[in-house]
Amino acid sequence: MAAHKETDHFDSTFYKTADAFFPAYSGIGLTFDDITLATLYSEILPRETQLETDLGGGLQLHIPIISSDMDTVTESRMAIAMALNGGLGLIHYNMPDRQQLSEVSRVKHHVHGLIQEPIKVTPDQLIGDVLELIEQKRFAFSTFPVVDDKGKLAGLLPSHVVKPRYAKRKVAEALQPRSQVHTINQKELGKDPIARADKFFTEHLGIHKLLVVDDKDMLRGLITMSDVERITQERRAQFKPARDANFHLICGAAVSATRNAFGELDRERILTHVSGLVERGVDVVAVSTAHGHTKGVGDTVKMLRDEFPKLPLIAGNVTSAEGVEFLARAGATAVKVGQGPGSICTTRIVAGVGIPQMTALYVASNSSAKKKVAILADGGITKSGDIVKALTLSNAVICGGILAGCTEAPGEVLEIGGKLYKQYRGMGSLAAMKAGSAARYGHEKNPTQKVAPEGVEALKEVSGSVDRVLAQLIGGIQSGMGYLGAANLAQLREKARYIRVSPAGQREAAPHDVVELKTGNQ
Ligand code: XMP
Repeated sequence: MAAHKETDHFDSTFYKTADAFFPAYSGIGLTFDDITLATLYSEILPRETQLETDLGGGLQLHIPIISSDMDTVTESRMAIAMALNGGLGLIHYNMPDRQQLSEVSRVKHHVHGLIQEPIKVTPDQLIGDVLELIEQKRFAFSTFPVVDDKGKLAGLLPSHVVKPRYAKRKVAEALQPRSQVHTINQKELGKDPIARADKFFTEHLGIHKLLVVDDKDMLRGLITMSDVERITQERRAQFKPARDANFHLICGAAVSATRNAFGELDRERILTHVSGLVERGVDVVAVSTAHGHTKGVGDTVKMLRDEFPKLPLIAGNVTSAEGVEFLARAGATAVKVGQGPGSICTTRIVAGVGIPQMTALYVASNSSAKKKVAILADGGITKSGDIVKALTLSNAVICGGILAGCTEAPGEVLEIGGKLYKQYRGMGSLAAMKAGSAARYGHEKNPTQKVAPEGVEALKEVSGSVDRVLAQLIGGIQSGMGYLGAANLAQLREKARYIRVSPAGQREAAPHDVVELKTGNQ
């Protein structure tokens, strides 16, 4: 049912579509707090809204939120938490290449049901050796498949015999023999191994481990009941984890357009590293720089597109339609938009360059529609309302500061004056540049040569888990969509109507004329 048609025209005099609103302010840069969205007739309840988003190149998320590739925001712990909530984490590159590869592996090997390379022991080992292995690697489990020297299944070492009192006994004496071990042929797992294993565990009372073998009885995997239960629970959740076709969590990694000692693009190093990322199962690579509308970034994207035709590629940052088209032509599937909106950014102060974020998104999104690339709104998000506004012109948001206080962000918790904080710093801050240069180039480059840092070092108050922070953000996005009658993000983009807010209107938008006892998110 449509709203009152006769008043449409009157409303539209004030509440304008993006194409009517932004060009009317073509000479002025607007950001989140400069505008507000008008409510519209709605039949949509917030909890019914769909937040699925398509980032191009086959990359889809269940929620439109990405954690920024910053060294105080995204390493494997953050990326796992983001993917478990249906989003994506971009692992930063301020670390040696090898370390970034293992960070990606950690995300891709996070519980996904079938453990393809289970830790195994051999019959001739002593129980004492197994105990040492558990201690050394800090395993949280103590049941192990036993295989012979060719990888053929010999039995299962149950946890109740992995005890110091049996340290001198051989695994061969203690194992449950092959004939008594429950196995399934990998061919029988079918398209949904989790459903198959779930059925098996229901039918086999008290059995918690299912070993997967091939026709020659070689060990090919292990499925545990606790993993299956966790995954079946996830499947019922409103926002499902973001997983790839093999049920691994999805993960992104950022790279830079690195130059060699002669100042040329270091093609060999970039290609070798991205090949390594692809081997480890990375789902998207982001060529991430402060200025993406440059020859170096364009050439890097082109080179990666030629070498990896199917790999989703994010590139940026830009703030112009021409910049988006340039990166799309080079082969990017999504473009990061944002120059200077970030909470730790000083680019606009130091370089005098950058565009307030809503105007930048409007200009950039104008081109993206033609070129069919996704737009990622990067930086400046301080509250869920900003995300709703950003999503009217983009496919997802990239957040740094709002996630930097989470338990899963890298870095220690500091206590100052009875309050808990975590470090948060710009990637263009002197400290971050030094850390990156030291790790990447050894002493080849002197980071202090860049005399004008474009970011600050700061602290964020500890904000609890990513689950908690995302739950609040998602709640806010869904609420905004409910007000606009938007069932999904495409409808949000189509329905959004904007109006400029006066300074008094901005004050009115926040709690005022009260003594606040609790902030909105407590
Ligand atoms: P928020 O507002 O979420 O912004 O904290 C995160 C985004 O800021 C960008 N970034 C920087 N921009 N100097 C800048 O001008 C810096 O040192 C810097 N470090 C990060 C980046 O796009 C990030 O996602």
